[in-house]
Amino acid sequence: MHYQKHILITGGAGFIGSHVVRLFVNRYPQYRIVNLDALTYAGNLENLTDIENQPNYVFTHTNLLNPQALAAVLEQFTITDVVHLAAESHVDRSILSPLDFVYTNIIGTVNLLQAAKVYWNGQYEGKRFYHISTDEVYGALGDTGFFTETTPYQPHSPYSASKASSDHFVRAYADTYGLPTIISNCSNNYGPFHFPEKLIPLFINNIIERKPLPVYGDGLYTRDWLFVKDHATAIDVVFHRGKLHDTYNIGGFNEWRNIDLVKLLCQLMDEKLGRPAGESAELITYVKDRPGHDRRYAIDATKINAELGWAPSVTFEEGLAQTIDWYLANTPWLQRVTSGVYQQYYKTQYA
Ligand code: NAD
Ligand code: DAU
Repeated sequence: MHYQKHILITGGAGFIGSHVVRLFVNRYPQYRIVNLDALTYAGNLENLTDIENQPNYVFTHTNLLNPQALAAVLEQFTITDVVHLAAESHVDRSILSPLDFVYTNIIGTVNLLQAAKVYWNGQYEGKRFYHISTDEVYGALGDTGFFTETTPYQPHSPYSASKASSDHFVRAYADTYGLPTIISNCSNNYGPFHFPEKLIPLFINNIIERKPLPVYGDGLYTRDWLFVKDHATAIDVVFHRGKLHDTYNIGGFNEWRNIDLVKLLCQLMDEKLGRPAGESAELITYVKDRPGHDRRYAIDATKINAELGWAPSVTFEEGLAQTIDWYLANTPWLQRVTSGVYQQYYKTQYA
């Protein structure tokens, strides 16, 4: 088979990466999709069982921290484009172990940039290095205003500082070596395959198991939520039609205070589980705040809509209902992830 492109997607076994890999594999049989992932605690190949036997899909168990291995992957699979999602992604973990974030998010990204620069060797025509980043690099907002593409960077957590640094290195490789880069910064994602230590899947799991729902601080922190499949379609659009060396903010103009979101989740879960109204809300427990907790995030997604015509396909109510249905229909996935059994899958499948 002659493929038009050989696209390396990093972090494809993670939450967002698995949706991007699935979308690209199914939508573009003319592209070969190479999923590179180190399979950390957050990487789960069970997220991709529906496409793992497609002829245009390949998995490589490779760590961003191994530059020789990265160089070999680019050469072996004649990589023409990179969509870089692999990262340490959990703010709370970054507070406990900041160096893991420096290694993977900063050094890992520089290793990948360097490998692409060396392999492509100045032959940049038709190629792209697309770096997936976060709105957290912009810091925190007060009660009003939005993050735009020109908002100055002001990260507060080790996670956001490491992502900000990786964005700077991507731009530095464009400015210094002409690497054909592009960046997008997205708001909070939710949806199927979300690792159950982030707010929404953790609380869904705790409601199912009737465990406390730990709300940090006063619960009045605000996040801007986007359905993960809509992030994947935005990545598709930016990859194909975004302007080189440019930046796009991705979001759905969908702000929720944590406590309001948690109450909505409790109400929907009571309905879906056939429990008396108000039962799950009794599990809400206010706990010690996250240090350096950003008060509010809100993305201005005007540019991607105006320039590339992208908009979310579902409302929050639809996306949240789909997400809850997915978790309720996939309790074995949830149990395997929470018990750690999923980590055996790779060994069995790829022995
Ligand atoms: P995730 O934690 O679910 O997945 C990360 C993936 O990267 C995992 O499969 C993991 O095994 C892999 N990985 C980690 N370290 C690696 C290494 N050293 N080498 C190779 N692979 C490694 O993350 P996610 O939530 O899917 O986020 C994906 C990307 O999107 C990240 O870059 C993140 O910063 C960004 N992002 C996430 C959100 C969100 O709400 N989750 C929002 C905006 C941007
Ligand atoms: O904004 C984009 C970012 O969104 C991504 O870059 C990150 O990778 C992603 O993890 C997410 O970061 P947050 O810190 O916003 O997500 P998290 O789900 O950890 O927390 C969402 C909000 O809920 C935040 O205000 C903290 C709060 N929270 C979280 C947990 C896990 C709680 O109140 N209780 C909890 O137990």
